[in-house]
Amino acid sequence: MTGILAFTALCLGLLLTAPAFATDAVSAYEGHRLYVSHCMICHGPDGKGHGPLAQNLGLNPVDMTRTLRSRSDTILKKIISGEGGQTISGRDRHNVLTDAMPNWGEVLSESQIEALIAYLRFLSTAQHEMMGDPVEGRDLYQKYCTVCHGEEGYGDGVMTQILELEPMDHTDPVAINKMSNEDIFVAIKEGNGQYMPGWEGILDDEEIEALVSYIRMLTQ
Ligand code: HEC
Ligand code: HEC
Repeated sequence: MTGILAFTALCLGLLLTAPAFATDAVSAYEGHRLYVSHCMICHGPDGKGHGPLAQNLGLNPVDMTRTLRSRSDTILKKIISGEGGQTISGRDRHNVLTDAMPNWGEVLSESQIEALIAYLRFLSTAQHEMMGDPVEGRDLYQKYCTVCHGEEGYGDGVMTQILELEPMDHTDPVAINKMSNEDIFVAIKEGNGQYMPGWEGILDDEEIEALVSYIRMLTQ
């Protein structure tokens, strides 16, 4: 009896832990979605603190693209969840975050907060502008690109076995950062080599821009 229980617990444990790995590559993307609906209104689309609600309330969120580099994940988790009266460096003389920043610990889960942190890191280290809407980009990617590039962009889609392809790994930050937005755009529009087809005629420019933004997020 206990054996069965232990086994069930083990299976349940595996079930519960598996998605965490599977969603790793897209956590910045999930974080982006949360950011747009929960944070952008104060922190602004670019994280610099010029959101419309902040202006209405006379709040002054910091420019996160400058401060985040010096904050550890643990500190960010505390800041976002509002856990305890945390102290953070580089602030007023008491080094305490004011209460102008809402506490999100009750409405967001731990994994949502982790996804947000992945996105904030992306936002503060991004080397290229976002050209299109990554939410639209993700839908298009799932529809047209995963057969070769894989669900999560690793380059391991089902067609790679049949055709012996080696599509580029879209989660590799070094390779992707080396390419400008224009490079990626042109690669998608015109194709590259025999097996990376050009999408002109199927996708319009706005859709290709959305794909470029989504691919950038896969590198987090
Ligand atoms: C009602 C406006 C408002 C909303 C909504 C909001 N924030 Fe803030 N946030 C602030 C203000 C104001 C500060 C600066 C507080 C201070 O300086 O003491 C801040 C500070 C922060 C900081 C600390 C930055 C630093 O390095 O000092 C982080 C991180 C942060 N917010 C993340 C978020 C996230 C993630 C969300 C969405 C889940 C969010 N905020 C939503 C107003 C807001
Ligand atoms: C039939 C398989 C296939 C499909 C479908 C496919 N790709 Fe590719 N892709 C490849 C291969 C193979 C490469 C590597 C090409 C090379 O380096 O020679 C590649 C490379 C790329 C590159 C890098 C190009 C470069 O210059 O290195 C980008 C960006 C890309 N694909 C985006 C996409 C997007 C976006 C989609 C969906 C709209 C897509 N691909 C659909 C096979 C595919």
